[in-house]
Amino acid sequence: MVTRVATVAFEGIEARAVDVQVQIASGNVAFMVVGLPDKAVAESRERVRSALIASGLALPAKRITVNLAPADLPKEGSHYDLPIALGIMAAMGALPADALESFTVLGELALDGSISAVAGVLPAAIAANARGHGLICPAACGPEAAWASEGVEVLAPRSLIQLSNHFKGVQVMARPEPAVATVDDTLPDLKDIKGQESAKRALEIAAAGGHNLLMNGPPGAGKSMLAQRLPSILPPLSPRELLEVSMIQSVAGTLANGALSNRRPFRAPHHSASMAALVGGGLNARPGEVSLAHCGVLFLDELPEFQPQALDSLRQPLEAGEVVIARANHRVTYPARFQLVAAMNPCRCGQATEPGFACRRQPNERCIAQYQARLSGPLLDRIDLMIEVPAVTAADLILPPPAEGSAEVAARVAAARARQAKRYAVLGIEGISTNAACPAPLIEEMARPDPEGTALLREAADAMRLTARGFHRVLKVARTLADLDGEDRVRRRHLAEALSYRSHTDRRPILA
Ligand SMILES: Nc1ncnc2c1ncn2[C@@H]1O[C@H](COP(=O)(O)OP(=O)(O)OP(=O)(O)O)[C@@H](O)[C@H]1O
Ligand SMILES: [Mg+2]
Repeated sequence: MVTRVATVAFEGIEARAVDVQVQIASGNVAFMVVGLPDKAVAESRERVRSALIASGLALPAKRITVNLAPADLPKEGSHYDLPIALGIMAAMGALPADALESFTVLGELALDGSISAVAGVLPAAIAANARGHGLICPAACGPEAAWASEGVEVLAPRSLIQLSNHFKGVQVMARPEPAVATVDDTLPDLKDIKGQESAKRALEIAAAGGHNLLMNGPPGAGKSMLAQRLPSILPPLSPRELLEVSMIQSVAGTLANGALSNRRPFRAPHHSASMAALVGGGLNARPGEVSLAHCGVLFLDELPEFQPQALDSLRQPLEAGEVVIARANHRVTYPARFQLVAAMNPCRCGQATEPGFACRRQPNERCIAQYQARLSGPLLDRIDLMIEVPAVTAADLILPPPAEGSAEVAARVAAARARQAKRYAVLGIEGISTNAACPAPLIEEMARPDPEGTALLREAADAMRLTARGFHRVLKVARTLADLDGEDRVRRRHLAEALSYRSHTDRRPILA
């Protein structure tokens, strides 16, 4: 007889149904797992054997075959331990035969029979709910599973014994409560930054429309400081975004204690990051930084120090809002609609744009050009706001702290975002809530300027030789500026300001 237990295999953030079939038959004593298992799944035999012994159940001296169906879907990870163990227990008669019928099961076993946390419980719970199943998952992941739906039955045992007692009715487990992460309210505040008014303005615009931002300036000007204060002015995640972000974090195994937080992600990988770390891939095709920054910010400090190849790998996700990782036998898609914020020095010495500074090695222009040549034109073309952050003067530093802090800016950003969300919701476009994410044909309509604005745009697009992408990005920024002003129409002054943030690209000196 064959016992079946439902579990899942992950493809990106999708949980695909997998059937664990267990057969105990007479024949040579053996324990086999078939059905395209990876190394962690093949090793589960040893964990299952030890966990069952620790729970007082010895494996029968028979031929045990475990098949993971469908056999052509790759099975990765350690979460198959629990469904395999439960399948064997049911086949041995240690669990009531029909107990597992309406459950999807995932979890890793320790040698002592306890159940350890695994990644991907939230998508698994959502998939289980869609199939009309309940979920059996590790105790540590219970709060995460409980988020899937109020109706889904969740059993989150600590050990095999606790689960078997539950089914025997000896010790019935309660449903875990959905957990919310306790956020510390001590985010760094914009009040700490003296001077730098134009940089703060650009940061506000970037936050309001979800635009990409590049800050260029000498060392110690406060670029990293500005970027670190971006989370304090971003609005919280909407319920829909919260679910998407949490699904990615769940698959990546970064949801601490299964608690969800509505704070926007802020990822700041070091410049030694590899391409796989940025866009995803590697073992088990894990989500990369671009996906972990979905609906939030990817901050790349010291941009030209990143490997050029790694930087160029951001081009496709920046445009598409998702990343496709192709493996030999399957493709995995992760959402990656993030806002790129980057900081850089103008040159290797860092001072070339400072008035009166002369580079010792070569002319300033050449020093700048050499350093900036590490960034590809297409990558820079995807940046909506490019600003120069000059060094702060002593006069600025001596001033008392500015009156306006993150709270005031956050309120303006929230109002502008609300206008955008309303506009795109009325049009019924799925998943778009910011101007930056608006498709090009639509932004032409949404940001149609007044006649003076149109004339300015035509002139500037010719003079600055804007690319088609550049043209649309200027419109997006102008739309955000109008939203910050609470205006329905994009005016000439909005376009003029939006254009000023792009002009930097065209001032890049040509390598002499
Ligand atoms: N505008 C400012 N107001 C107050 N303090 C500042 C300001 N700018 C810089 N500082 C001080 O200088 C320190 C360095 O700033 P920060 O690390 O942001 O510089 P940076 O522009 O990122 O430099 P680098 O290019 O070397 O990375 C900060 O920790 C802060 O103490
Ligand atoms: Mg810095």
